[in-house]
Amino acid sequence: MNKNILSDFGREVLEGLSEKPKRLSSKWFYDEKGDKLFVEIMNMPEYYLTDCEFEILKDQGQEILESFGFDRNQDFDLFELGAGDGTKTLQLLIKLRKYKFTYRPIDISKHSIQTLTERVNKEISEVGVEGIQGEYFNVLGALKTNKPKVILFMGSNIGNLLDDRANDFLKQLSVTMNAGDKLMLGVDLKKSKSVIYPAYNDEQGITARFNLNLLHRINSELGGNFNIEEFEHAPEYNGETGHAYSYLKSLRRQSVRIDGVDMEFNFDEGEKIFMEVSRKYDSESLATITKETGLTCVRKFYDSRGYFCDAVFEKSA
Ligand code: AVI
Repeated sequence: MNKNILSDFGREVLEGLSEKPKRLSSKWFYDEKGDKLFVEIMNMPEYYLTDCEFEILKDQGQEILESFGFDRNQDFDLFELGAGDGTKTLQLLIKLRKYKFTYRPIDISKHSIQTLTERVNKEISEVGVEGIQGEYFNVLGALKTNKPKVILFMGSNIGNLLDDRANDFLKQLSVTMNAGDKLMLGVDLKKSKSVIYPAYNDEQGITARFNLNLLHRINSELGGNFNIEEFEHAPEYNGETGHAYSYLKSLRRQSVRIDGVDMEFNFDEGEKIFMEVSRKYDSESLATITKETGLTCVRKFYDSRGYFCDAVFEKSA
């Protein structure tokens, strides 16, 4: 099959499943079903990340706004990468409604952008919203404006990139920023496995469904014949390095045909597909991903349990 005529999704699936070990990118999790499952994940008691960041934005919102350093008459852009359903951000938008700014949420999911725009229009109508649909790496050009800006990159979304790619991405992001612009980066912190592991292996099996949904998506969008029952969600957490990994494990020897990429893939019993990394940070790994970016940390905000951190960075002159 001519790779050039494949969609980005088809090309990446073909490349990832042809590699050893096999891999799929978690960025494809977010179709309509995946968006809904992720909202369910964020509401799970085990998934502490959302509550922690919500608490930071709710209780320290005023200090966060002060750290951005804008006065009420200064017009600015508030970009948000991977905005999702925006529940946490609304906490900040409510506090910002007296300021002059445009909220520009960016998300790979068209559905999320639409829902979020409707929500802001309905709940905080004084705030102007202009959503942008696209993958972070592809929409960086849209951030290059002359207006002062704040970029929100919350939810530990950066943790879904391995350190080198995260650093590379932050360097590219920094290029879109002018001196004095701010970036608020939400990162999940290293902590006991007893807290982290259940967040990625909940008892109700929501995370398992979220992970397996990508196989459903391949079946429906690329004409795959994955038998979903023959794969199992298999998370791991490495407490030394702070990496939570997500895999799908083949429960038997089998082959899967994907018509849309014109290829058959063989799986051994127990063979795993690498699906996602969810990085947990400490000051050293945070320094690694922000090194040589021209971004200096000006404030750090923590939740009351010290599980999560929203760090504000300023672009240096
Ligand atoms: C979007 N991202 C930060 C989530 C995380 O925690 O890595 C995605 C997720 N995967 C499984 N549960 C949640």
